[in-house]
Amino acid sequence: MSESTPLVLGIETSCDETGVGIVHGTELLVDAVASSVEEHARFGGVVPEVASRAHLEAMVPTIERACREAGVALADLDGIAVTSGPGLAGALMVGVASAKALSLALGVPLYGVNHLASHVAVDIVEHGPLPEPTMALLVSGGHSSLLLVPDVTHDIRSLGASIDDAAGEAFDKVARVLGLPFPGGPHIDRAAQVGQITIDFPRGLTSGRDMERHRFDFSFSGLKTAVSRWVEQQQRDGRDLPVADVAASFQEAVVDVLTRKAVLACTEHDVAALQVGGGVAANSRLRAMAQERCEAAGIALRVPRPGLCTDNGAMVASLGAQMMLKARPVSALDLPADSSMPVTDVQSGLPVTVDHDHPH
Ligand code: KG4
Ligand code: ZN
Repeated sequence: MSESTPLVLGIETSCDETGVGIVHGTELLVDAVASSVEEHARFGGVVPEVASRAHLEAMVPTIERACREAGVALADLDGIAVTSGPGLAGALMVGVASAKALSLALGVPLYGVNHLASHVAVDIVEHGPLPEPTMALLVSGGHSSLLLVPDVTHDIRSLGASIDDAAGEAFDKVARVLGLPFPGGPHIDRAAQVGQITIDFPRGLTSGRDMERHRFDFSFSGLKTAVSRWVEQQQRDGRDLPVADVAASFQEAVVDVLTRKAVLACTEHDVAALQVGGGVAANSRLRAMAQERCEAAGIALRVPRPGLCTDNGAMVASLGAQMMLKARPVSALDLPADSSMPVTDVQSGLPVTVDHDHPH
């Protein structure tokens, strides 16, 4: 492949999806995903050891499937990218070890990348180059973050995050209270479509004082408790549970806060584009309200298609390709799997820069 348009394979194993994607520059060739979500369903959440084992079993077949579907031989690849964090330690290790082996065997550069940065970079294969800067709202089962992104390959700043449950986690927990299966987000979304917003649930961290101290942070545990109390009261009163109405009212409270703070972050930081990513970005009400509020504020909204919002390998390949296109340094082969990798570290395995004037 030509040097100017790198062919990159990306591997994602931070949670329960074994994702292998191949990107040619900014063009997505394939996005192969094997999910172990069904193995976790009866536990009501992802079981780390089960996820790691599933990655180990799925890794080679998923790489083979990706190459076959893209019509790409491993020898054609110009680079390998892998999620090195944040995520489940054992799960990350499977992806990182596989990526190192591929990089070493093929003699191509390796890029250890941040999972959250990858969620932002995936939109490049869908909607073209990211405006610089872009504001990113990342909402999934593991994270709820507002990020200011001057350059997705090396400069990401965190404006705020959830101080308790992630947005998707709140969807999953409330779904359980309503007797809906795991993962609950899509079930709440569907139920809400036939429900009415009849209950005014609390909007966390939006009061005057909270907006001073936690301007771009989120909190969903109070909302989750409010829903549980409301449901318990109905049961005590011997009334039927209006599942669709509770789902619609809960969803409205989450989506209202997410979009309100995201638009405020854009206007206050003078950023003209908002990207929404992560599993919860598949939510139909979130997509509609973000569209409405961005339009009113003159902000360009970018939301990848739902399949690219949830965890996948294409997002990792997309970020790796950007790093190659922008001639970012290669990661060292001993790069770590870092379960608590900060979002501001876009890449792992970079040489430690020593300030010779101030060595300590
Ligand atoms: O990004 P993702 O696949 O994995 C993580 O990194 O967590 O996100 C999964 C989360 C789950 O909590 C799931 O309930 C939620 O995304 N989700 C949704 C919808 N589809 C998936 N939440 C609300 N509405 C949806 N339509
Ligand atoms: Zn994710």
